[in-house]
Amino acid sequence: MEQELRQLQAEAETKLATLDNPKDLEEIRVRYLGRKGLFTTLLRQLGQVSAEDRPRLGKLANEIKEALEQKFNARKAELAASVAGADRQRDDLSLPGRLVPFGRLHPVTQIMDEVCSIFVDLGFAVAEGPDVELDYYNFEALNIPQHHPARDMHDTFYINDSILLRTHTSPMQIRAMEIEKPPLRIIAPGKVYRCDSDITHTPMFHQVEGFLVDRKVSFADLKGVLTVFCQKMFDQEDIRLRFRPSFFPFTEPSAEVDIGCVICRGEGCRVCKQTGWLEILGAGMIDPEVFKMVDYDPEEFSGFAFGLGMERIAMLKYGIDDIRLFYENDLRFLKQF
Ligand code: DAH
Repeated sequence: MEQELRQLQAEAETKLATLDNPKDLEEIRVRYLGRKGLFTTLLRQLGQVSAEDRPRLGKLANEIKEALEQKFNARKAELAASVAGADRQRDDLSLPGRLVPFGRLHPVTQIMDEVCSIFVDLGFAVAEGPDVELDYYNFEALNIPQHHPARDMHDTFYINDSILLRTHTSPMQIRAMEIEKPPLRIIAPGKVYRCDSDITHTPMFHQVEGFLVDRKVSFADLKGVLTVFCQKMFDQEDIRLRFRPSFFPFTEPSAEVDIGCVICRGEGCRVCKQTGWLEILGAGMIDPEVFKMVDYDPEEFSGFAFGLGMERIAMLKYGIDDIRLFYENDLRFLKQF
């Protein structure tokens, strides 16, 4: 019997060494070590062995069985590892990855973010307000009373007599000042609406309003802040600014601000219409009448405000000559930003 045991062991070991896949391994395991396998069958015959030899043979049989079980497990692990290795070899690691298409922010949104982040660096806080606005905030409280000729400046989308689509972001001046006491530094980006449409006007466009209120704020502060902004926005240290006297009902004095043409640097070109200057924003010192609307004492506080159009800045920065391109959703255009 001992010989038969050792023979089974040798047979099983040879098979184990030569097989090369997990399926054969399992078959051989069942054949030798399974419940009806060769080993079990042989062990059943232990009963017929003499009582004297039985303990020794029993012990030997168990030892052989355990040793074989260990070898099976080791071989199983080996085969599993080599299958994984083969899989890995089938993967061509030099293939380029699959491109996941992803979008990006609209060029106007990118410009608006850039404008806001320059002012945030200067200590301004961002505030947003409603597109559907009360006539009161859009006109009345900004010193543009019902029959004031300045209302002719805006071709407004009215919802009813007292509700409209805001025509500018200036109403945020009133909304912010109603809530907070000075000092305050705020930047208000957003959409605005006017009944207007040609190559430089769309019925919806974007503005950023900025304002600062404190004691002893002067026009020089306004010039300083706008100069730093233009230097950063157009990435030009020596950019020139020009303040032209103008009129807005909510600022006094008011100015329209030009920068030296960023395309021709003042030489004169098609974009600046040969003037060497580009108009980029409206600004001024907040009118005392506006302060009275929000219960700020104009004797104690002063402030400046400015408003700039995002599409205009984007057009200048990228040399785009038709504003409608921004809203046609033509990917050939949008993908360039
Ligand atoms: N709200 C004006 C517009 O849409 C722009 C503007 C001009 C804003 C002067 C201001 C300002 O804050 O001081 O045309």
